[in-house]
Amino acid sequence: MLKASQILEKYISFFEKRGHKRIANSPLVPQNDPTTLFTSSGMQPLIQYFLGEKHSAGKRLVNVQNCFRAADIEEVGDNRHITFFRMLGNWSLGDYFKKEQLPWFFEFLIDALKLDSKRLYVSVFEGYDSISRDSDSEKIWTEIIKKEGFNPKERIYFYGADKNWWSRSGAPKDMPPGEPGGPDSEVFFDLQAPHDKKFGKNCHPNCQCGRFLEIGNSVFMEYIKKEDGTFGKLPNKNVDFGGGLERLLAAVENQADIFKTSLFSPIIETIEKITSEKYEGFKKEMRIITDHLIASVFIASSGITPSNKDQGYVLRRLIRRSFDNINSIRELENLNIPTQAVVESIISQYKTTDPDLEQNFEKIVNTILEEINKYRFTINKARSFIQKKYPQIGDELKGVKKISSDDAFILYSTHGLSPTQIKSLGYVFDQQEFAKKMGEHQGVSRKGAKKKFAGGLADHGEKTIMGHTATHLLHQALRDVLGDKVFQTGSNITSERIRFDFSYDKKLTNEEILEVDKIVNEKIDKNLSVRFEIMPLKKAKEIGAIGLFDEKYEDKVKVYFINGSAGSPQDAYSVEFCGGPHVEFTGKLKRFKIIKQENIGHGQRRIYAKVGTFL
Ligand code: ALA
Repeated sequence: MLKASQILEKYISFFEKRGHKRIANSPLVPQNDPTTLFTSSGMQPLIQYFLGEKHSAGKRLVNVQNCFRAADIEEVGDNRHITFFRMLGNWSLGDYFKKEQLPWFFEFLIDALKLDSKRLYVSVFEGYDSISRDSDSEKIWTEIIKKEGFNPKERIYFYGADKNWWSRSGAPKDMPPGEPGGPDSEVFFDLQAPHDKKFGKNCHPNCQCGRFLEIGNSVFMEYIKKEDGTFGKLPNKNVDFGGGLERLLAAVENQADIFKTSLFSPIIETIEKITSEKYEGFKKEMRIITDHLIASVFIASSGITPSNKDQGYVLRRLIRRSFDNINSIRELENLNIPTQAVVESIISQYKTTDPDLEQNFEKIVNTILEEINKYRFTINKARSFIQKKYPQIGDELKGVKKISSDDAFILYSTHGLSPTQIKSLGYVFDQQEFAKKMGEHQGVSRKGAKKKFAGGLADHGEKTIMGHTATHLLHQALRDVLGDKVFQTGSNITSERIRFDFSYDKKLTNEEILEVDKIVNEKIDKNLSVRFEIMPLKKAKEIGAIGLFDEKYEDKVKVYFINGSAGSPQDAYSVEFCGGPHVEFTGKLKRFKIIKQENIGHGQRRIYAKVGTFL
């Protein structure tokens, strides 16, 4: 039987044979996309190429991308939902379209994975508003299905925009202006589980009863949402395919419960050992522990530490929820060895695709254990807060302990415990009152969140593009002033500001900062051209291109020149590896100013700057 890593290899080589270039897995925490905390699909790091930028590796790309979907945290616990997964992806950037994509994926399933065609069903877009029914995909599937000897009417299902349309922000009506999207066509595997009438009279591929498992989604990205709410066409007709590796493995192993596949079962077995209980008795808990600890391992490995904000908050929730679930199976006195054992079994399952995990083993274990200890401390503090206020409760562990909704809310807002955690400590409170307070509180924080995400989802707004060009000028100006030891280690650009990290172990003096500002503004005033060229990596290095670059797979790279070109690199002010997009002339940036510097440790500094007409 094929293992997860073999399915992955087969997929990559299937598409390489069809002219695709493999591109690297992007970081789980996106570098230049402030609108989302985690990479949640393979296309996300490629967004600018759907909008029309040229990719250095060409028009046919393939990869496997680590993904995390925080929105699915509450879904975990059933037979198929997970928050961390690996997505197999192939893309056509204005090259092939439906008549290649659909037969190829089908061929991959039947010939490479040896799935039985009898078990496959497909869905097609039935149309929405001005966008018509996808009759091209219907025709292509009809032919394929007939050839397999089945009745297309029983195999092809039509759904509307809520199911058969894909964009980063979901259905057409939820897409912000500038966002690309399109109709999609999904393939489902019939697990042959009996239909559960609780989910509707008749079963169908998108029924939630668990009989059908979605194993691949081909999105035909050819639309862009316009300012007036209607749809326009993207510069190209693109294909964005994504298929969850874990689900493909479940189909190959004909396993209705993905936690019983060969990828997860060794991890479940470790959890059985540390809790001395069986999976059959604690399915939901063990699924949550497995999923959440896998996600925690990958998030901790990318350098995130638990906190009350952004990615750190998500990591905190994942670790605390795993702990609650372990605790609900069995209260363990010492968690060091058990935690280490689970992390080890996770790493041994994922190390072939992610060798970093092994190197980061200690960091991962320490991050998880420290958070568990902090959480235990918080629980103890919460308990003593309540005991002081309600001395009559005493410290008995069992029995009903009624507390006011105000105090429950303090446990939530000050001590950071969720309502479920408060209940699991044995405290009862007026849930309606509590929900009311929570609603008021969320109203306030939602306002904050809205402000933060004001840049819009498709953050290729003018300000952000200006910010990208400004980082190239800043990078070079820092090297002019501080020397060639300076190189970029990260960046994050929003419509409000630029954040730029670089290697340098001293605080910059005021004079140095003013000098950098001056150089960047001079280059802006000169209105230099900004152009790119695609060239072999070797050549880019020869002409001294700088910048963050993943050398894993690409042999051709995209290089941006500020002034000059590949033919006259001596005229260039900056030569940098970059996917784009950029402004065409530096004059567009108007003004540049550094507003803050910080030490971020490990010999690195961080600069915040503003660009545009902000003065
Ligand atoms: N981007 C598409 C998805 O995530 C393929 O389903």
